[in-house]
Amino acid sequence: MLDGFLPGFLIAVGLGEVGDLGDGLIVLVRWLHALGAVAWVGGSAFFGLIVRPAQRIDPDGVGRVIGRFTGPYREMVDASIIAIVVSGLILMFDRLTGDDATVVYFVVLSVKLIVAGWMFYMVWSLRRAGFIPESRSGLTQRLSWLFGYNALLAGGVIVFLLAGFLRAIFETAITG
Ligand code: HEM
Repeated sequence: MLDGFLPGFLIAVGLGEVGDLGDGLIVLVRWLHALGAVAWVGGSAFFGLIVRPAQRIDPDGVGRVIGRFTGPYREMVDASIIAIVVSGLILMFDRLTGDDATVVYFVVLSVKLIVAGWMFYMVWSLRRAGFIPESRSGLTQRLSWLFGYNALLAGGVIVFLLAGFLRAIFETAITG
C-alpha cells in the first residue's frame, strides 16, 4: 500500500497540491496522529465492549486467555500514546504559530487536552489496578464503569468529536 502512496504523495507535493513541503509533512504528522488515535480508541472498544462482557459471561474461560492479549495490547497502547503525543504537539505548534487560531479554537483545544490528559491518567491507573475480574455490583460497578475501559472509550469518542470541531473552527477562520 505504501508503494503506491509514497510516489503519489511526492507527486502531489511536487505539483503543489498539498501546499509546500512543510504542509506535506503536516499531512504525514496528521496521518500519524489519526492512526494512533484510531488504534487506541479501537483497542479500548475491543476491551470495553467485547472482552469485558465476555468475561462477565465466562470469567474462567476469559481469565485463561487474557494473559496472552494484555502484553500486545499494552505495547500497542504505548506506541499509540507516543505517536499521539509527539504528533499532537507538532500539530498544535503548527496551528498556534499562525495567526488563524481564534479564542474559541484555543478553548476547544484546551478541553481536548484536558480529556486527553485524563485518558492518559486512566491508562496509567488501569495498569496499576491490573485486569480485575468484574464481579462487583451496585455503586462499585457504576464507579468501575466511570473509571474503566468504557470511560476510556467514551473519552476517545469525545476527543474525536472535539478534533472535528477544531478542524471546522480553523477552516472557518481561514476562509472567512
Ligand atoms: C497530547 C495530546 C494531544 C494534542 C496536543 C492534540 C492536538 C491536536 C491538534 C492540534 C489537532 C489538529 C486540530 C485541527 O484540525 O485544527 C488534532 C487533531 C486530532 N486529534 Fe489530537 N491531540 C492530542 C491527543 C489526542 C487524542 C488522545 C486523540 C484520540 C484518542 C486525538 C485525536 C485526534 C483526531 C482524530 C484528530 C483529527 C486528525 C485529522 O484531522 O486528520 N488527539 N489533535
